Amino acid sequence: MLAARRGWRAPRACWAPRRCAALSPGRAAARLRVRQALAAREPAGGVTVQGWVRSVRSQKEVLFLHINDGSSLENLQVVADPSLETRDLTFGSAVEVQGKLVKSPHRMQNMELKAETIRVVGPCDTWAFPLKTKERHPLEYVRQFPHLRCRTNTLGSLLRVRSEATAAIHAFFKENGYMHIHTPIITSNDCEGAGELFQIETSNEARESAEKNHFFDVPAFLTVSGQLHLEVMAGAFTRVFTFGPTFRAENSQSRRHLAEFYMVEAELSFTESLQDIMQVMEDLFKTATSTVLSKCPHDVELFHKYVAPAQKGRLEQMLKKRFVTISYSEAVEILKQASQTFTFKPEWGCDLQTEHEKYLVKHCGEVPLFVINYPYDLKPFYMRDNEDGPQHTVAAVDLLVPGIGELCGGSLREERLPFIESRLQRLGLADAYQWYLDLRKFGSVPHGGFGMGFERYLQYVLGVDNIKDVIPFPRFSHSCLL
Ligand code: 4AD
Ligand code: MG
Repeated sequence: MLAARRGWRAPRACWAPRRCAALSPGRAAARLRVRQALAAREPAGGVTVQGWVRSVRSQKEVLFLHINDGSSLENLQVVADPSLETRDLTFGSAVEVQGKLVKSPHRMQNMELKAETIRVVGPCDTWAFPLKTKERHPLEYVRQFPHLRCRTNTLGSLLRVRSEATAAIHAFFKENGYMHIHTPIITSNDCEGAGELFQIETSNEARESAEKNHFFDVPAFLTVSGQLHLEVMAGAFTRVFTFGPTFRAENSQSRRHLAEFYMVEAELSFTESLQDIMQVMEDLFKTATSTVLSKCPHDVELFHKYVAPAQKGRLEQMLKKRFVTISYSEAVEILKQASQTFTFKPEWGCDLQTEHEKYLVKHCGEVPLFVINYPYDLKPFYMRDNEDGPQHTVAAVDLLVPGIGELCGGSLREERLPFIESRLQRLGLADAYQWYLDLRKFGSVPHGGFGMGFERYLQYVLGVDNIKDVIPFPRFSHSCLL
């Protein structure tokens, strides 16, 4: 908008200033992002930078500003004549600075902007503004201001990493021949069968009686997983993935559970081995992490320096080593022999608790750990029977990572009609899942897939303890659904 009014043309996304048209001689004025300005190799006149003031330092002879526009962790230093200072030019205000980009005399920064004009676009009442200049606010403090915390260094870095990781995950699948599918958010299936569903209704239905008539004729829920829809697509495309919001009505006070989170899910047809699924999980995890580390080193470093000092080493180890694999039965034996006493006694047939998962990861050398072949009765209806005893174990896999516990869950799917039919009948679900049975009647193939919790992935990479600190908008209380 601003660019159009002033007759500027915003440079196309261009992070290599030497080739950047915006900096070519002869142009009247170039609007640069802070990141572009910092990376410029040559001085340039007629440059405009817009952003929010991170500090103002006024000296007798010179006025220093630091401004940030979210494009990088580093601020751009603006050097100005003190006569350009106004009352509104404060920490937090939005500004537009025009001037010359020059080599900075400081060792720590490449370029700085010598201001010719400074316009305060939006003033900021610093007394009332909950963020204070130069203060390193704890994550717990800024969580109280979900509408303002993206202006802090920590959340700025987190959101850049989150954005880069999203792109890296899409790129991984694209490069490996997967097709992206938008699976539905409103659905009538409960893929995991764990009863953690949010039911949806119109506001009229809620006021009257939800029992009478449903908007969709049948009860509808927010999706807990796109897997069943991906399985449909895996009947036509051999490799598919989805990456979208997922909803679970479970304890949101925990440090690793959210009511709304993002899940990356992949489904592969013509796959008979759980190893193939595990290989994709490991490759995705390592490729996305290497990309994030190389694309946003400073943002990641901020977390590794101030939030989780041990995390850098852990990640480097993780990238070098092969992930370890043990069976569920071996896991239970390890837990039974542990000198540590657990709140939940480990028993074959019981779910692994977070305390168990963390112990197992430590026991196996603090690297990501695949646990495979879980008890049949513990897992959802779609998992493939290993036939190692009467309904004894299924071809399931969970990926456990240090400090977090479960990061991914996956399995081979039961592609054999008689097996899946009898399981659905026993669960009283055969009628509801006729369409799923059709997939086993018409060109069924061995297939499998997995889901990775995106927020838990970010928690692991950055070493963040509370999952609410890796989402753009924390819903810290039910009375504040921003
Ligand atoms: O293990 P889950 O329940 O697996 C599935 O939903 C499969 N249908 C996925 C598939 O095979 N396509 O969930 C997958 C992952 C978990 O390992 C965990 O990382 C994350 O999703 N997750 C959560 N993350 C944050 N908050 C919650 N409430 C979560 N519940 C699961
Ligand atoms: Mg799971």
